[in-house]
Amino acid sequence: MYTTELQKQAAVTSVEPAELLAAFEARVAADEFIEPKDWMPEAYRRTLIRQMSQHAHSEVVGMLPEGNWITRAPSLRRKAVLLAKVQDEGGHALYLYSATETLGAARDDLIDALHSGKAKYSTIFNYPTLTWADIGAIGWLVDGAAIMNQVPLQRTSYGPYARAMVRICKEESFHQRQGYEIMMALAGGTAEQKRMAQDALNRWWWPSLMMFGPPDDNSPNSAQSMRWRIKRDTNDQLRQKFVDITVPQAEAIGLSVPDPDLKWNEARGQYDFGAVDWEEFYAAVRGEGPVARERMQARRKAWDDGAWVRDAATAHAEKQRARQAA
Ligand SMILES: [Fe+2]
Ligand SMILES: [Fe+2]
Repeated sequence: MYTTELQKQAAVTSVEPAELLAAFEARVAADEFIEPKDWMPEAYRRTLIRQMSQHAHSEVVGMLPEGNWITRAPSLRRKAVLLAKVQDEGGHALYLYSATETLGAARDDLIDALHSGKAKYSTIFNYPTLTWADIGAIGWLVDGAAIMNQVPLQRTSYGPYARAMVRICKEESFHQRQGYEIMMALAGGTAEQKRMAQDALNRWWWPSLMMFGPPDDNSPNSAQSMRWRIKRDTNDQLRQKFVDITVPQAEAIGLSVPDPDLKWNEARGQYDFGAVDWEEFYAAVRGEGPVARERMQARRKAWDDGAWVRDAATAHAEKQRARQAA
């Protein structure tokens, strides 16, 4: 299956590819971490570079819809909390880009791929944030879904990725709570505030379910990723878990989940829920999300506006190197 990559590796290492692969798979099966200097199949390395850089891009692009609301937060406290949250996301991106670099990827190439539209990021960030309640809904649902995806990644087979996830998950759980707290305040407020909260839930519910990716029977890379323990749970398992945890949270604050097919299934001990509109998902993946173009324009502008900072940092580092050499 990996014949060409393995032949390439074998030519370099002059060890039998089958032997290397068997040793690698045995380590993964024993739940050992794979580290940057270890031999790994080329397909494993490529899958990780794709997944980790997509994750990093999502953290960066995810700062945009919320960043739009920092100047409009309704109180000093809300502003301070939102600022801290958005900064956390920037930090997550930096961890993840660094972890991706341990696989031999160059950060400039990763960022180029994002800015040229070649690389993907989470489709959820191509939806607009229309009201303050959207900031609550994002923290509660989007960061909530992110936690569901990321907690199992603390045990993913690639060491640097797993370790980056430990701190990220702690911060994501603060993000989820700050969002839910905004929703709680709105849902318990005036009729108009409650209507805003419900409207935000209506718009963010389905895109949040899409965050877990396509259904298992239509997720071509899942089986291999599960086998290599890059993924530890399937998309559908995680989606179900998210629904089961989130529905009672909505009920607790008097909001209703916008799904007429949602009902508790006593026999399964889980919720049954309606079908996700996968056409909408694939359109968003193709870059046709409602504000996809706007997001990329904002991202490229931020990159260009920050050029002088990168230039200054490089010049400073060079000056220090020269001073040390002298
Ligand atoms: Fe994050
Ligand atoms: Fe977050």
